[in-house]
Amino acid sequence: MNVCVVGVGYVGLVTAGCLAEGGSNVVCVDNDSEKIACLKDGVIPIYEPGLAEIVKHNEKVGRLQFTTDLKYGLDNSLIIFIAVGTPSTSDGSADISTILSVAAQIGENINDYRIVATKSTVPVGTYKRVTDAIKKKTEIPFDYVSNPEFMKEGAAVEDFMRPDKIIIGTTNPAVREIMKQLYSPFMRKSSRFLFMDPASAEITKYASNFMLATRISIMNELSELCEKLGADIELIRQGIGSDSRIGSAFLFPGVGFGGSCLPKDIRALIHTGSTHHIEMAIAKSVQKVNINQQQRFAQRIINFFKGKEDKTVLAVWGLAFKAKTNDVRESPAIFCVKKFLDCKMKIKAYDPEANTTAMEALNGKIETFQNGYGALDDADALVIFTDWQEFRNPDFEVITKKLKKPVIFDGRNLYDPAYVKKQGIEYHCIGRAPIGG
Ligand SMILES: NC(=O)c1ccc[n+]([C@@H]2O[C@H](COP(=O)([O-])OP(=O)(O)OC[C@H]3O[C@@H](n4cnc5c(N)ncnc54)[C@H](O)[C@@H]3O)[C@@H](O)[C@H]2O)c1
Repeated sequence: MNVCVVGVGYVGLVTAGCLAEGGSNVVCVDNDSEKIACLKDGVIPIYEPGLAEIVKHNEKVGRLQFTTDLKYGLDNSLIIFIAVGTPSTSDGSADISTILSVAAQIGENINDYRIVATKSTVPVGTYKRVTDAIKKKTEIPFDYVSNPEFMKEGAAVEDFMRPDKIIIGTTNPAVREIMKQLYSPFMRKSSRFLFMDPASAEITKYASNFMLATRISIMNELSELCEKLGADIELIRQGIGSDSRIGSAFLFPGVGFGGSCLPKDIRALIHTGSTHHIEMAIAKSVQKVNINQQQRFAQRIINFFKGKEDKTVLAVWGLAFKAKTNDVRESPAIFCVKKFLDCKMKIKAYDPEANTTAMEALNGKIETFQNGYGALDDADALVIFTDWQEFRNPDFEVITKKLKKPVIFDGRNLYDPAYVKKQGIEYHCIGRAPIGG
């Protein structure tokens, strides 16, 4: 299979690398010439477990190419994936202008039959707008497929290689067969294709993120109640997660969800609803609970140091929106650190992969360290934002020695409160009463 992927970000690069690993020839096109130059030099601009090895190997054996030239990609591929960003606009709607501009370029440069597949998350009806944008520029026949992506950052390669499902949004049986063929290397055990019309495929992606975000917000809302009532959210999580009708995934309470997808997709869904005079009351509540959870966590720490904020130094572990990624887009850690900085607190931070991206997001206003313990010296408390494996079983003796006063604010409930208390540490976590101190 000859494939072109337009937009070589988190989704595009993983898609391209994994398809090449599955035997396809893939041309990656991006209009960021610096990014393309880096990729040609073997520098992978994002951190994603397993991705660098796949990209480097497939480039070496000639199945993966990088270019800024869309026409080259089009001329050499049957399937053209669009994987560019669809960020929020000021009214919350998804900005699909880049998608439409790529569609117009495809229309201008196409010279034979092609299949155009959208991987980006796009509002319902985009299939029609992309089709129209291409048709406006050409009479050459093409087909359109909505093929939304469900990978999770931090496990994106694994998700792509072993997908729960592949959604193929087209009513054309011949196109279904070609798409099935493309994904067949990842479906050896069982066929997990779901075929549907493009509109349903587009909505399924938003529905999926809506459901996931809702589960997190339910737990976060309950965590506030638990804190008030002296109950333990972890026990409640186990209690409901063991119910087979509910299941245990996406039930961890924390500092709120972030990243480039859930918050943006909830906003876009609310906007889509409003344009069709539907209130989307649940989606609005999910969004409200999520903002409240981040604010509550930041405020709890600010209140703890009330009156001496400008003399407070916080050690921060985790800056990305979750573990195993360097992506800080809409990261709750960045949200809270900005609040701390506004109060004149000093931040000494460590993230295994996101020090650089966080520094950029925070305009260099924090100090970063090459390991977690380095950030602890002379800090007044340790604040944990992500659940990297290396944070889960730290040396509490070192933490106690290095901090001015042993206090931990844990936004991910990583530790057993009784054990931490035994180490002489004051421990504040989510949905459980503070302990020690
Ligand atoms: N990141 C995720 O985990 C994830 C998961 C599922 C779906 N999605 C969706 O996939 C889409 C892409 O997300 P992402 O996180 O990969 O975005 P990203 O910002 O990481 O990557 C987008 C890429 O497109 C390139 N680009 C922009 N305009 C272009 C143009 N005109 N021509 C060629 N390239 C262009 C950018 O330079 C960038 O490299 C979004 O719609 C997102 O909602 C993301």
